Amino acid sequence: MTPAAVGLETSSESRIAPIQAHIDREIEELLASLPDPGELSTEQRRGIIARYTAVLEGNFIYWMTAAHLAVASDTAHAIIEDNLREEVRDNHPGMLRRFAIAAGALPTDTDVLAVHRELGAVRRFVAGLSPTRIVLMMAFFEGFITRFMPYLADLAGRQGSSELQYTDVHGVVDIEHTEGLFRALDAELALSAAPPSTAAMIEGVGTLRALLERIVEVQVPVSLTNGVAA
Ligand SMILES: [Fe+2]
Repeated sequence: MTPAAVGLETSSESRIAPIQAHIDREIEELLASLPDPGELSTEQRRGIIARYTAVLEGNFIYWMTAAHLAVASDTAHAIIEDNLREEVRDNHPGMLRRFAIAAGALPTDTDVLAVHRELGAVRRFVAGLSPTRIVLMMAFFEGFITRFMPYLADLAGRQGSSELQYTDVHGVVDIEHTEGLFRALDAELALSAAPPSTAAMIEGVGTLRALLERIVEVQVPVSLTNGVAA
């Protein structure tokens, strides 16, 4: 490796490493906040699977497509296109639908409305088509999904389901996808004359995190709160 190439690699690592560490911390915090599946009622377990399905099934490919539209570098385009091809070719939305049906957790209107506000905020953020912010949000999303799969599979198992293709596949492929998205982010930062600060870049991560928190939040039945919805 030439001295120039070594220099390039170092600057690339120093650009991405602190952002990656920040995302890892966000994921760790979110995972640490998950309710104990053994302490959840059947309905609460069903609700988490249903809200996850309501958000992921129709939005993941749309948000990844928005990332593809937003980026400018050939590297990022190629990485995100590969990701999209796999989603479409292997019919990941269909896989998730089968997972939800088998767990008796197809989303109802209540589930859809429970995430309505936070989902709308992510959609408005995505509409801004900011390349680095959207790629970072998707890296956070993929990283979270990978680490969330054992928990989601546990919930489904407790609901009596053994249809685990969705959680099996996403516990593996998304590790590679997350790494790819950090390379895509690096390529976008390298193109940018004035890269945004880390604080500005993680805006979408915060918006998506609020939605994920809403998905895993334990829902208290209305009757137990004297008619005041939680
Ligand atoms: Fe997927």
